[in-house]
Amino acid sequence: MACTIVVGAQWGDEGKGKEIDLLAADADLVVRYQGGGNAGHTVKVGDQTWVLHLVPSGILHEGRLNVIANGVVVDPQALVAEIDELERRGIKIAGRLFISDLAHVTLPYHKRMDEAREARRGAVKIGTTHRGIGPTYSDKFARIGIRMGDIPDEAVFLNKVRRNLEEKNHFFVDYYKVPEVREEEIVGPYREYLPRLKPLITDTVRLLQDALAQGKRILLEGAQGTLLDVDFGTYPFVTASNPSAGGACTGTGVPPQAITGCIGVAKAYTTRVGTGPLPTELPPEEEERLRILGREYGATTGRPRRCGWFDAVVVRRAAAVNGLTRLAITKLDVLDQLDVIRVCVAYRHGGATLEDFPNRTEVVEACEPVYRDFPGWKASTSGARRWEDLPPRARAYLEAIRDLTGVPLGLVSVGPCRDETIRIP
Ligand code: IMP
Repeated sequence: MACTIVVGAQWGDEGKGKEIDLLAADADLVVRYQGGGNAGHTVKVGDQTWVLHLVPSGILHEGRLNVIANGVVVDPQALVAEIDELERRGIKIAGRLFISDLAHVTLPYHKRMDEAREARRGAVKIGTTHRGIGPTYSDKFARIGIRMGDIPDEAVFLNKVRRNLEEKNHFFVDYYKVPEVREEEIVGPYREYLPRLKPLITDTVRLLQDALAQGKRILLEGAQGTLLDVDFGTYPFVTASNPSAGGACTGTGVPPQAITGCIGVAKAYTTRVGTGPLPTELPPEEEERLRILGREYGATTGRPRRCGWFDAVVVRRAAAVNGLTRLAITKLDVLDQLDVIRVCVAYRHGGATLEDFPNRTEVVEACEPVYRDFPGWKASTSGARRWEDLPPRARAYLEAIRDLTGVPLGLVSVGPCRDETIRIP
């Protein structure tokens, strides 16, 4: 494995949690490199289900070190709540979780700004998770952010908070007409989480450099997906970070030449939460059927996910910008009982056939999918553990995905549990 990136190859919710959990068995360190509490990685171990938002999925494997790296935005209150819940359920955190001193902090004013902006957008909402992600990254790039390394020094932290509050409250009260954020709303919780988080904050750039020098195996865990990438996604209906492979380097300090592979995780169909184009979106009745079959409700917000057919144009873009070396296809079993399964192979736009994902979101919105139909296999795949166990029609479907995206298959998931997986050598 050496140093492998795991990215979402669609619009997030591809089932990365399970894949990372599987791959973590062969890793020494698992490192989250971007996003924040907007992510919801669901992992099933035995009869227990875990939903991780900020803590890397490697925490569920004994002996693995877990890093929240510099590219992540951390809501300290949410992180402490997540740590509490993990500890309550018997997971050891001390000495196993490290937070970068360079990671930016999400504070109550970021969440209020997220909500206020969304409310203002009216009909053209992004449909954010309201976790303050966009405003935290905005402050990072506006160079007024507060970093985890500022937290241990109360005077420095509060000075920065006060300076920011002055500007933010002006916007809240005078422009957005929402209540201001009072200093006490930040200071009270701060005094509670400080002793909990202080021991975990460290120079993770150094920690990762040392791990690389010692030949440790590192898994770089992406959140969201390539089509939500602020550069390569359906802007502005995207998240505020770079979930794609480049984000793994800037988000950790691991240099590009250390990366040995990039696994793209894609569902056997497509889903998306929030607004923005979804070219293969199903008509309401068929969509509802797939949503029920796949239990497609957001792990963070509980929102129903929009559902559509597998879109090879989307995954080809992911293959290109991430340099995918393998595909992990998840939730194949959800399609088990369908009569016909469709794959979008290209788009039609203004009389032209497009093989590549268009850069302009207005163009994506106007595209019609070109489908190739596959006969359903109408048999359960959840007991399959080897490629040969799969029905021939399911294999043909997967081979088509491989050929249409140009990426070899590495894993096929046929259920939420660890063992419900087919490894393809
Ligand atoms: P934000 O990341 O909360 O700013 O939301 C921006 C867009 O990304 C919205 O469409 C969200 O629904 C979507 N999004 C954010 N995080 C996730 C995720 O973990 N899975 C799927 N969609 C997400």
